[in-house]
Amino acid sequence: PVSVFHTVHEVRAWREAQRTLGNTVAFVATMGALHAGHLELVNLAATKCDAVMVSIFVNPAQFAPHEDLATYPRTLPQDIAKLSALPHTIAVFAPSAQEMYPRGITTDRSLQRGTFIEVLGLSEMLEGGTRPHFFRGVATVVAKLFHIVEPHVAVFGQKDIQQCCVLRAMIVDLHFPLKLVVAPTVRDPEDGLALSSRNVYLTAEQRQRAPAFYRGLRRACDLFAAGVVDRTQLIDAVKQEATKEGLDIEYISLSSPDDLSELQAVGSAGAVLSGAWRMGSTRLIDNVLIGFE
Ligand code: PAJ
Repeated sequence: PVSVFHTVHEVRAWREAQRTLGNTVAFVATMGALHAGHLELVNLAATKCDAVMVSIFVNPAQFAPHEDLATYPRTLPQDIAKLSALPHTIAVFAPSAQEMYPRGITTDRSLQRGTFIEVLGLSEMLEGGTRPHFFRGVATVVAKLFHIVEPHVAVFGQKDIQQCCVLRAMIVDLHFPLKLVVAPTVRDPEDGLALSSRNVYLTAEQRQRAPAFYRGLRRACDLFAAGVVDRTQLIDAVKQEATKEGLDIEYISLSSPDDLSELQAVGSAGAVLSGAWRMGSTRLIDNVLIGFE
């Protein structure tokens, strides 16, 4: 059974009822267009707490004016149907932009007014390099959602690993009393492409070439297993596989899982091997963790 709320007031009443029942609350934030990756987050959340809240909100603050806010897939009835098919009791929060940003919001940063959260030192590199507005928008909306939902546990996907690092830091900095859980990336079982709401933008031909990046990440993992720790060799392995399919690579990074600083070699703390590439006007990302246990 799924209950759907559209206002902060309704969510707060639901939250109060959970408190009265003595229920712990797990939270999954999404922008909707739900796929099996999102549903795995919800399944994991349901194992952690008594009650699960899923937010569905396409957050204007994390899109730049030239990005895909207008065309981002919005499929609320189908999303609710997918959640209803899961064997959990789920509450859905699907607010309007007006509800989340009561004093208004614009994608044009020069015109923005209001209250924003910036996690400096983790938001500028990698994804933040191409999308300087992005993590400010993410941190702001997630802080609002944490403040409204007051979860004990929040589940985020490893697919957006920098987002996990930024939000983990925000939780510490702002003393949010909750535990962040990172869920593994769900992939197409046939070819390994990470599931993403943006995959629907790909043409059949692009969709067929897209998995080359992950093949490169896996080749780098194999090299690491064979003893290679060197940055250039690991990154070149990804580049080689990706260029075989002519992928337009934006960056490939070997970085520290702690502060996302670039590494010359995989050390004892492991590393994040991540990257972004473009296919037409679509931008995709993926990553693997290297050298963890
Ligand atoms: P969205 O892209 O909808 O993703 C919602 C959550 O699902 C994120 O934690 C993301 O990492 C996770 N996710 C996406 N694809 C996944 C996959 N293939 N496997 C596992 N998890 C996956 O990320 C956002 O929305 C937004 O930035 C948000 C946090 C909701 C703030 O607006």
